[in-house]
Amino acid sequence: RETPLVLGIETSCDETGVGIVRGTDLLANAIASSMDEHARYGGVVPEVAARAHLEALGPTIREALAEASVSLDELDAVAVTSGPGLAGALMVGVGAAKALALSLGKPVYAVNHLVGHVGADLLDDAAPLETPTIALLVSGGHTSLLLVRDLVGDVEMLGETIDDAAGEAFDKVARLLGLPYPGGPEIDRAAEGGDPEAIRFPRGLTRPKDLERHRYDFSFSGLKTAVARWVEQRRAAGESVPVADVAASFREAVVDVLVGKALAACSDLGVPRLLLGGGVVANARLRRVAEERSAAAGVDLRIPPLPLCTDNGAMIAALGSKLIMAGYEPSGLDFGADSTLPV
Ligand code: KG4
Ligand code: ZN
Repeated sequence: RETPLVLGIETSCDETGVGIVRGTDLLANAIASSMDEHARYGGVVPEVAARAHLEALGPTIREALAEASVSLDELDAVAVTSGPGLAGALMVGVGAAKALALSLGKPVYAVNHLVGHVGADLLDDAAPLETPTIALLVSGGHTSLLLVRDLVGDVEMLGETIDDAAGEAFDKVARLLGLPYPGGPEIDRAAEGGDPEAIRFPRGLTRPKDLERHRYDFSFSGLKTAVARWVEQRRAAGESVPVADVAASFREAVVDVLVGKALAACSDLGVPRLLLGGGVVANARLRRVAEERSAAAGVDLRIPPLPLCTDNGAMIAALGSKLIMAGYEPSGLDFGADSTLPV
């Protein structure tokens, strides 16, 4: 088989991503984001995101083609995220991908967004993806722990958040500290000047009783409430809020649970590899703690470059290309968008 030239479309949340790959060679990774339009709401508004994709997708496809210096008729296939994600947002990408494939007479491959995050690692030439691996995916929309035995066909969801996503928790805590949206980078910056041990915030779903049923699941809403209560008590007492210490202690609680559960999965399942993905991977403390504790546990830690960790079209194209090379049939034109698509 010749190495296929694939265009990937990603519209599951607020990033309009179009990537182009040839096999595992990254040729383009164009992104438009509607983040600014959501800022005043403090979170992604589904309807706003869907409309923004509609406007951004055409120009972003053109941008990717120019970046890769390829023309539409050279493409071998189109790949698109069909779920999970925001239903309306997904529909824009799925509709566009089908129209493009139909007009070009090329096949279309529907792919899973979470598996796409793992597929991003295929594009990292420094060290190509090895399996089995545990994958920890953390963003504003998801917090999932996966066991990847084989990227195509054998991915198991070990656990996920039962309430807020980790990035969402960062955004909400930033808001209550008076920091702007998106809150992750703000808290991360504020935390660098604080003491992570200043306040002992709760680690969700880590008590022995919780671990019986939720060993690999996450919960961040109790943590967010604990931070809110702590801050309110300070304010009620007329005392100032030590933002750096609160940010550092909160960040520590999130990172401790994320890394702890991911490495527990590695150890329980005898998998000596851990891959990180999602926008929260930008977190400085998460990267540091993951590096330290993985090294101590003898686990090989993989962190793709940040533009491949945040939502993007290149990871979708990479997974599409992998499906083609593995001999999978295309998806046809009758698949839908599934906001809760399982892996
Ligand atoms: O993957 P991503 O770009 O896309 C969406 O989920 O839409 O992730 C964005 C999320 C936001 O919640 C943002 O606050 C969080 O990732 N984030 C961070 C950091 N940078 C972005 N969270 C913690 N620390 C960071 N440095
Ligand atoms: Zn994502």
